[in-house]
Amino acid sequence: MEALLEELLEQCRPYARQGKVATYIPELAKANLDDLGIYVLRSDGQHFHAGDWNKPFAIQSVIKPILLLLALMDNGEEYVRSRVGVEATGKPFDAINVTDQTLLSDHLNPMVNMGAIAICGLIHGASYEEKFQRLLELTRKLAGNPDIQLDQDVYLSEKHTGYKNRALAFLLKTYGMLEDDVEEVLDFYFKACSISVTSQDLAVIGSVLSSHGTLPDSEERVFDREYGNYVNAILMTCGMYDGSGAFAVNVGVPAKSGVGGGIMAVVPTRMGIGIFSPGLDEKGNSLAGIQLLERLSNRLYLSIF
Ligand code: DON
Repeated sequence: MEALLEELLEQCRPYARQGKVATYIPELAKANLDDLGIYVLRSDGQHFHAGDWNKPFAIQSVIKPILLLLALMDNGEEYVRSRVGVEATGKPFDAINVTDQTLLSDHLNPMVNMGAIAICGLIHGASYEEKFQRLLELTRKLAGNPDIQLDQDVYLSEKHTGYKNRALAFLLKTYGMLEDDVEEVLDFYFKACSISVTSQDLAVIGSVLSSHGTLPDSEERVFDREYGNYVNAILMTCGMYDGSGAFAVNVGVPAKSGVGGGIMAVVPTRMGIGIFSPGLDEKGNSLAGIQLLERLSNRLYLSIF
């Protein structure tokens, strides 16, 4: 397996330089286009890796499924679904999804910024500081890594430049879909996106989703099985934004991308996969990362279809 990962990594290396680093968050523009890493954790406990699997990067939108999980654990499925819908938007991650001057919960999806910001408003905690600590603790628990921290530079960089997200949050406020103070919710969202992880962390989190809620080494249950189904289904239909259809056909597993270059892929009952390559395609998904997943899926018959 490790030899296969090495072989595929070499095949995909040329694609890494064809992508572009995210520049709208200045700190992310410093990423090295040559970085490319993969980590696989199988349900039998075996793990494999190649390349820059241990390099840290900002989790960015890969936090969205974890935010959704925490919102489900705090509020239950019915309430979360009444506030943020589950229909695929087929639109870019920062789309303004307002139809005919109204915004309904069905226009929101937890994997797209506007829906994810609305989800932030559903997390329990006495203060936004406490809410963030709860999110960080859940991320650490899912990844089995107590050392996961906030990347302060990425957080401040995004906080200073996040005009589009401010616009999205104020729209939510306008339509009564955000109760709390807009800047406080945004501060939490920017911090959430700036948590620093490795491909290994994403693979372990993906493996917990692949088992629908149990930790790999202990069989301890972290969340209800139904929440695993809920999150995986939304990852399948909207995890790669307006690239989700092609990804379903070409790779065929639930996955989430982030503009930091990470992809977390979930192969239900079989494995979690974490990938890092910061060169992005025009949709904001890791370009070499998708190539790598496509090849791995073909070789190991990973598609759930
Ligand atoms: O909100 C943003 O723009 C970023 N913090 C996250 C966007 C992102 O990762 C999109 N994914 N590919």
